[in-house]
Amino acid sequence: MNQRTSGKVALITGAGKREGLGFEAARQLAELGFRVLLTARSGDSARARAEELRQAGYDVAGDELNVQQPESMAALSARLKKESRVDVLINNAARPPVNGERATCADLVLARESMETILFGTWRVTQCVLPFMLAAPQPRIVNVSSGAGSHLDHKFGLHASATDPSYAIAKCALNALTATFAQELRELRVLVNAVCPGFTATFPGAEGMGARPVKESAEGIVWAATLPDDGPTGGLFRDRVALPW
Ligand SMILES: NC(=O)c1ccc[n+]([C@@H]2O[C@H](COP(=O)([O-])OP(=O)(O)OC[C@H]3O[C@@H](n4cnc5c(N)ncnc54)[C@H](OP(=O)(O)O)[C@@H]3O)[C@@H](O)[C@H]2O)c1
Repeated sequence: MNQRTSGKVALITGAGKREGLGFEAARQLAELGFRVLLTARSGDSARARAEELRQAGYDVAGDELNVQQPESMAALSARLKKESRVDVLINNAARPPVNGERATCADLVLARESMETILFGTWRVTQCVLPFMLAAPQPRIVNVSSGAGSHLDHKFGLHASATDPSYAIAKCALNALTATFAQELRELRVLVNAVCPGFTATFPGAEGMGARPVKESAEGIVWAATLPDDGPTGGLFRDRVALPW
């Protein structure tokens, strides 16, 4: 249970799964004293996860948010008007990799879906939330990305394997979006970074494949969400270390 409140508000997308990184990042930020707006595509999941955290003594509200739907943004704006401000935005929602996909024969409908969630979903939500962040003393945006979208990740990156092209290309575009937002928002003191959580046990059987516990991976997301004013902006990081992309 958290013993203190920071007066800060964090909004997280795609946090409806109990075993997911979004939910764990919500828990860790709540532990640090943040009020957390926990959102998910399913309103029921968002409210259930928020209730679990409230039962543990944290200040958390759950709301439906489908990042793919432009019409959801009006509801989000209306919701945010009830908060004093938003200090931290964590764009965590993503479409997972398509099993066995290869670029040469990929279904472009699914490829477009990945872009729509990972790239345009992040872009859309950031545009919507940003006006509520400008009054925050230390506004921070974290885009949960992946080494899969990096040229220089020798294990999971673009040159390491030919798997998951829709996911990898969308994450690469997300890294580019992060850099451009960071540049544009530098003067406004908004630090914008992408974070690769590392291979994480968020799905059945992942641990046996070498994935690490979700708690450990979420710490890198929380680090980027709580950077000091002289912290980095526009980069991709894993475990607090810059990852070239
Ligand atoms: N786990 C890893 O090894 C790993 C490695 C590198 C990066 N990542 C990234 O870490 C983040 C979290 O992934 P995860 O492993 O915790 O599991 P995940 O289940 O893939 O988390 C993604 C969440 O996004 C939600 N989502 C999908 N489409 C959405 C939409 N249109 N609107 C709102 N939410 C939507 C999903 O909701 P539903 O439950 O409704 O489908 C799901 O809860 C993702 O960005 C992922 O790409 C994970």
